[in-house]
Order: sequence, then C-alpha cells, then structure tokens
Amino acid sequence: MVAIDGPAAAGKSTVGELVADRLHAVYFDTGILYRALTLEALQQRIDPADEPALARLAADLDVRIQRPTVSDGRQSDILLAGQDVTWDLRSGAVDRVVSEISALPAVRLALLETQRRIGRSGRVVMVGRDIGTVVMPDADVKIFLVASVEERARRRYEQFRGTSKGQALDEIRADLRHRDQIDSARDVAPLRPASDAIVIDTDPLSIDQVVDRVVDVATDRLKVGRH
Ligand code: CDP
Repeated sequence: MVAIDGPAAAGKSTVGELVADRLHAVYFDTGILYRALTLEALQQRIDPADEPALARLAADLDVRIQRPTVSDGRQSDILLAGQDVTWDLRSGAVDRVVSEISALPAVRLALLETQRRIGRSGRVVMVGRDIGTVVMPDADVKIFLVASVEERARRRYEQFRGTSKGQALDEIRADLRHRDQIDSARDVAPLRPASDAIVIDTDPLSIDQVVDRVVDVATDRLKVGRH
C-alpha cells in the first residue's frame, strides 16, 4: 500500500495514477469523496457548517468510480447517485467550500471506514491529505509531495487552460492558499507528513522523475519486506 499525501495541486493525482500503473496497483483518489460530498451538499442546499447533516450525507454517499467512458482528459468517470459528475467535482463552487466541509470531524469519521476498506483490499496507491497519518498509518510506503505555491498555481493553470474551468492565475493561487490554510490548521487529521514519510520537493522535477523516485522507494521496500 502506497500512501501519497500533500497540498493541493502538488501533483498527487498525476503521479499517483502513473505509479499505480507501474506497480500494477489500483489507484484511488480520496479527494473525490470529499468533493462528491461537497457537491451533494451544495445541491441539497445544506449549510457547510451543519456537521450532523453533512455526516449523515457522508455516511450515505453513493459514489462510483469507473474506467473513463468519455475521452476528455478525465482519469475516470465519477458517478454520484448514478449521475456523471466528473467535471462538476472540479467546479469553483466545490473548490470554495470543500476544505471547510472536510475539516468537520464527524464528516472525516463517516468517510474513514470506506477509505480503509479500499486501502486494505490489495495493491493500492491512495492519494489524499491524511493517508499516511490517519487512514493507513501502516502503509508500506509513505510519500509527501510538496511544491511552491507559485509552481502549483502554474500547474493547475496549465491543467485547466482552455477548458470551461480556465481560471486566472491569481484566482487559482488564492484558492490553493485558502484550502492549504484550512487543511493544515484543522484539528482532526491536519495536512502534514507522517514522521516516516519521504518528502519530495517536486519543484525542480519532471513528472517522470517524481514517478521514478516513488517507484524506486516502493520497490526497495518490497525487496526489504521479502528478506
Ligand atoms: O486535487 P486537489 O489537490 O485540488 O484537491 P483534492 O485532493 O481533490 O482534495 C480536495 C479537498 O478535499 C482538499 O483541499 C481537502 O480539504 C479535502 N481532502 C481531505 O481533507 N482529505 C483527503 N484525504 C483528501 C481531500
């Protein structure tokens, strides 16, 4: 089990998916659960501070992740109660409140077991904020990806340029700062590297270099495990 954590737009999902391919593992992005819950809450007009209502919603969340059926740059199809919400999850409206909702302890608790079950199901590369610290503290490999806010804003700008989500660089930078601040300062499962995580500064590295490094660490661990 490989845990990859780090702040928004540090490259976790791109790297995570490529690492999973190389290791013949399943890739699972836990951010999807928090984003799907947020979208559902927005649709049902639930107050982002109504912790009991949000925890109930989290416990009943009907999210399905499947191989992409549309080739528009998506990593997978994400269905919420049967509806394709793949791009809705990336909307500015979701970005603006997802971290507030994710900071609620009852919400995190409601989503914990699902994540653990997937984490224990076999070879898995799981990405998020608290995988190495809380969800899978016994993960074989823990990686914490970091990058400067400038570099992360640039990456996200490139990712969405020319799409309906094409935001200005300033707006993206402000969103990343806002979410990082809430994700790092929350009481439950704050964003931080596990004490045994390998921290990789991705600023000077290409995607392939980051992937190579993570795969090297994982294969080394597996070898050690076999002796
Ligand atoms: O892709 P990006 O880095 O922008 O964010 P994400 O991984 O999709 O996560 C969206 C938000 O969900 C984060 O800013 C966190 O507030 C929350 N989250 C979390 O609290 N714990 C996780 N394991 C994953 C996401």
